[in-house]
Amino acid sequence: MLAKDEHYMDRALLLAARGRGRTSPNPLVGAVVVSPDGVVVGQGFHERAGEPHAEVYALNMAGARARGSTLYCTLEPCCHVGRTQPCVARIVDAGIVRVVAAVEDPNPVVCGKGFEYLRGRGVGVDVGVGAARALILNQPFFTLVRERRPFVILKAATSLDGCIAQVPGRPTRLTSAAANRHAHRVRAEIDAIGVGVGTIVADDPLLTARGAYRERPLTRVIFDRRLRTPARARVLSTRDAGPVIIVTTEEAARRDDSRRALEECGAEIEIAAGASVRAALERLGARHIDSLLLEGGAMLHAAAWDEGLVDFVRLYVTPHVLGPGGVPFLDGRTFSSAGLVDAHVEPLGTDVLMEGYVHGPH
Ligand SMILES: NC(=O)c1ccc[n+]([C@@H]2O[C@H](COP(=O)([O-])OP(=O)(O)OC[C@H]3O[C@@H](n4cnc5c(N)ncnc54)[C@H](OP(=O)(O)O)[C@@H]3O)[C@@H](O)[C@H]2O)c1
Repeated sequence: MLAKDEHYMDRALLLAARGRGRTSPNPLVGAVVVSPDGVVVGQGFHERAGEPHAEVYALNMAGARARGSTLYCTLEPCCHVGRTQPCVARIVDAGIVRVVAAVEDPNPVVCGKGFEYLRGRGVGVDVGVGAARALILNQPFFTLVRERRPFVILKAATSLDGCIAQVPGRPTRLTSAAANRHAHRVRAEIDAIGVGVGTIVADDPLLTARGAYRERPLTRVIFDRRLRTPARARVLSTRDAGPVIIVTTEEAARRDDSRRALEECGAEIEIAAGASVRAALERLGARHIDSLLLEGGAMLHAAAWDEGLVDFVRLYVTPHVLGPGGVPFLDGRTFSSAGLVDAHVEPLGTDVLMEGYVHGPH
């Protein structure tokens, strides 16, 4: 590895992040082409699913100057024929002599084969520069490929005494305008928002991203094993914002009357192979949903927590006190003594955002 490698990989990582919110189910990828005398002659990032890969943008920009240059990319270049020619072939044809990649692509059709192809054709390959940051950048993609389920972000607003609502089944407004704005910005980037049917019945939320620019449809998911979602639920009137999926069980789906009423209102019924949260998440994985913001309520949060499916926690802690009758966050469960990993804390108006990984990036 060369001292400059970190520097150029930083640039590629920053470029990659510019595709945030638009590339799913593809990863965020950035690429930089550097000539032998250290000049950046090409750069690019994957802008949206279905559009060229980052390497293609960077090589196009570099043109003939790519010959003899080094290519920095945040993920292993692809080697399979998809909608476009494999990137590895473009790299070899362009005359790149060295590829520095942050991480291997876990996708079984790539998974080291891209590096093998390049090495087999005399291109030098170094892997691992900026690996930790590249892994964090694409947590949703890695989780979907490895675990066939979305990356789960558990989100909640809590009172100072750790409650999410004043009494069970009643909506409680907790967060400030600044925290609400933040929450809507997050909704604008995620693939899907999920809630339990208890929250639909209690709060009747719209589950849309408001006051924030979102380029793609936003999928809303209701976890509802008995098809209790009312056909008049407000979320069903927002299908212009994206699909509404109700994940249920085979038994409930057999009850034609409930199913038909919900389908007539535009809901898509998805049948999970069991009653667990994991079974429901696997259905979402099959639909290529790679990130899910699990917004509540307490029971669904607790179930996901107990099954070890929460990857990241995002809490808006507010200065209100709801008292002994309040609904406790996570149904009263507590965090492990290790707390959150890579935690980030930020004041938002009168509230405090606290977020971090449950076990660390994976
Ligand atoms: N402060 C916040 O951030 C926040 C956010 C959201 C909601 N809330 C509040 O939370 C309260 C609602 O919470 P809640 O706990 O009553 O309801 P909930 O967690 O929204 O929904 C619970 C329901 O989800 C269904 N479910 C589907 N799959 C499940 C699974 N694998 N495991 C467990 N449940 C599953 C169950 O019904 P079936 O058995 O019929 O499937 C269960 O009764 C409301 O008061 C609301 O205002 C607060």
